[in-house]
Amino acid sequence: MNKALRKAVIAGNWKMNKTRPEAKALIEELKPLAANAGCDVVVCVPFTNLETALAATAGTNIGVGAQNCHFKESGAYTGEISAAMLKEMGVGYVIIGHSERRQYFAETNETVNLRTRAALDAGLTVILCVGEMLEDRENGITEELVALQTKVALKGVTREELSRIIIAYEPVWAIGTGKTATSAQANEVCGMIRKVIAKLYDQAAADGMTIQYGGSMNAKNAAELLAEPDVDGGLIGGASLKAPDFGAIIDAAGK
Ligand code: 13P
Repeated sequence: MNKALRKAVIAGNWKMNKTRPEAKALIEELKPLAANAGCDVVVCVPFTNLETALAATAGTNIGVGAQNCHFKESGAYTGEISAAMLKEMGVGYVIIGHSERRQYFAETNETVNLRTRAALDAGLTVILCVGEMLEDRENGITEELVALQTKVALKGVTREELSRIIIAYEPVWAIGTGKTATSAQANEVCGMIRKVIAKLYDQAAADGMTIQYGGSMNAKNAAELLAEPDVDGGLIGGASLKAPDFGAIIDAAGK
């Protein structure tokens, strides 16, 4: 992390977990652990938990995010939720382009771009996910692939709007597998993404961009990953479902 240049952000991605009472209990347990955080803290919860999470975090330093949004403002899109609907509730953040959406729900670089645009237009902050599959890494195309994902996702995004973009580098092979990228691997790709931002915009924009690592980050390995200069936080799945573990990662980011 380089806190002199950019914000450190620790975000939990709860994925498809927790009923409303469970969500409330987890947030209540998390609140005292996050109260003195030396970084921004966000929980990205299922749509059904947003209202519960917003109520439970009111007046605290914990931000609330959704895990997806549609790119149209309204209309005949059964089962979808618009960015404007999230904004109206008081939601601040939305994850866009998570690899699970790319893998299982036919998300493409183009729809990631459309959703990013819609979220920015609605006034949300986007946690934009990029990352390679194991096969891509083995084929030596991680850099090209992640650069492509980043460039297409940011099409039409202005320099000013970058303050509402957080990029999460999540190597797909490290998600939910217990196989974390080494801190050097995480730093290498986060640094490469920063170079892409510098080329697309300018060096100051790149220096100010928060780039998280995600993929089996936990209470034990967080400090080492976050010590890397280009790793500005984490997007945490499994470990965000246990308050003490998530709290320990927040602590690691505060150092
Ligand atoms: P895990 O931390 O469970 O590997 O999940 C990472 C992730 O996908 C966060 O978005």
